[in-house]
Amino acid sequence: MPDNKAQNCIINLEGNTYEFPVIIGSEGEKAIDISKLRDTTGYVTLDIGYKNTGATKSNITFLDGELGILRHRGYSIEDLAEKANFLEVAYLLLKGELPNKDQFEDFDESIRHHTLVNEDLQNIFKTFPTGSHPMGQLIAMISSLSAYYPKALDPNRSAESKNRTVLRLLAKMPTICAMIYKKRMGHPVVYPNNNLDYVSNFLNMTFKHVSDSDYQPDPVVVDAMNKLLILHADHEQNCSASTVRLVGSSQANLYATIAAGVAALWGPLHGGANQEVLEMLESIKADGGNVQKWVDKAKDKNDPFRLMGFGHRVYKNFDPRAKIIKKTCDDVLNRLGINDPVLEIAKKLEEAALTDPYFVERKLYPNVDFYSGIIYRAIGFPTEMFTALFALGRLPGWIAQWQEMSTENQPIGRPRQIYTGQTPRSFIPRGER
Ligand code: SDX
Repeated sequence: MPDNKAQNCIINLEGNTYEFPVIIGSEGEKAIDISKLRDTTGYVTLDIGYKNTGATKSNITFLDGELGILRHRGYSIEDLAEKANFLEVAYLLLKGELPNKDQFEDFDESIRHHTLVNEDLQNIFKTFPTGSHPMGQLIAMISSLSAYYPKALDPNRSAESKNRTVLRLLAKMPTICAMIYKKRMGHPVVYPNNNLDYVSNFLNMTFKHVSDSDYQPDPVVVDAMNKLLILHADHEQNCSASTVRLVGSSQANLYATIAAGVAALWGPLHGGANQEVLEMLESIKADGGNVQKWVDKAKDKNDPFRLMGFGHRVYKNFDPRAKIIKKTCDDVLNRLGINDPVLEIAKKLEEAALTDPYFVERKLYPNVDFYSGIIYRAIGFPTEMFTALFALGRLPGWIAQWQEMSTENQPIGRPRQIYTGQTPRSFIPRGER
């Protein structure tokens, strides 16, 4: 364990000297604890986009952006994606340890009890115009759950009641995502079959037709979905996880808090990128497949086009998830006998960008969103469902982040600012302006 006693940070301001503690994390990350900065110096820090600001200490996920490392509770993402299933990883994120056989069975069983959603929730779908974006529906459905479980609104409810809300969300998210898909297709809803495992049940609710008595999810698809959900499960203090922590810090109920996380994820710079990547690849294909033309567009400051699925706030090396997804992509398409021309375009685009000085200098590599959509499409999901699938995977991570924040009784999040607007001025009556 590194020596956690580092030299204090000395700051000289306006002729005064101040000392602030330095914190060193279990993986050697260093931070200056400035929680007393304003009280002692009158200064605040300014860090637009929080590129250099730690919002919390956390035991859940560790990223090393330079080395392309991702671990959950100390386990590498490579090991988890290869050897665990999604529900085991959800348990790990929430409880801090991988479940033993009994613990897994209890967890799995307790989730199966809650997979149904209230029939009245289907009325919400009726209010959405056909073809509405799944993320708007998902936000509405998740926050609507608070109406059916009003006890969840009490911030002082028991730990057992909070845990029931966690189980309800984990159990109902696949059902809601499948309902959104069915409504989009104009097909009747297929109810949960609690004899199936978590991922198979989701695929069954999604792709089984009510008249289709012998539908069985393809094991290749079940394995790929488990991997994709694991690879999206948590990613420390990203935009949507930070949103969950901030909303949760006001003691808003967990349904509203998770709905806020889904809203943040929707943005094309965040989880919405997986949909944007597929649309970008389709545009390149429709444009004749000239990848260099689009790489040049992405470099042109006068062109708003960005290479979607490329670049990352933290990873300045390969996103380890992208490597796993790229391999899974090849594997799934081969085993399903699908030849998707956009996969070849994606590979050519990656090759062109990774040898281009613009991307090399800025350390822009494919991220988790670059290949994931190709697999989702191969499985049969429409492009607009991709970000909802990201949310399905990210749910246990969001809940783990919320749980850590709330059990540590962290204060309500309330950043400061530097005001740069008008200085005091007298009010002038309208007739005299
Ligand atoms: C996710 O934070 C997480 O952990 C997120 C996530 C998770 O699991 O929760 O990993 C999921 O959101 C992945 C990212 C998905 N988004 C995209 O793929 C959208 C395309 N990528 C970018 O818009 C961008 O790379 C971000 C938003 C991901 C990161 O942006 P930053 O860190 O704010 O970096 P920046 O915008 O300041 O870019 C630095 C430079 C700029 O050029 P210069 O001003 O230095 O000349 O790199 C350029 C940018 O113009 N740049 C790109 C680019 N990404 C950055 N140029 C072209 N194409 C791109 N994709």
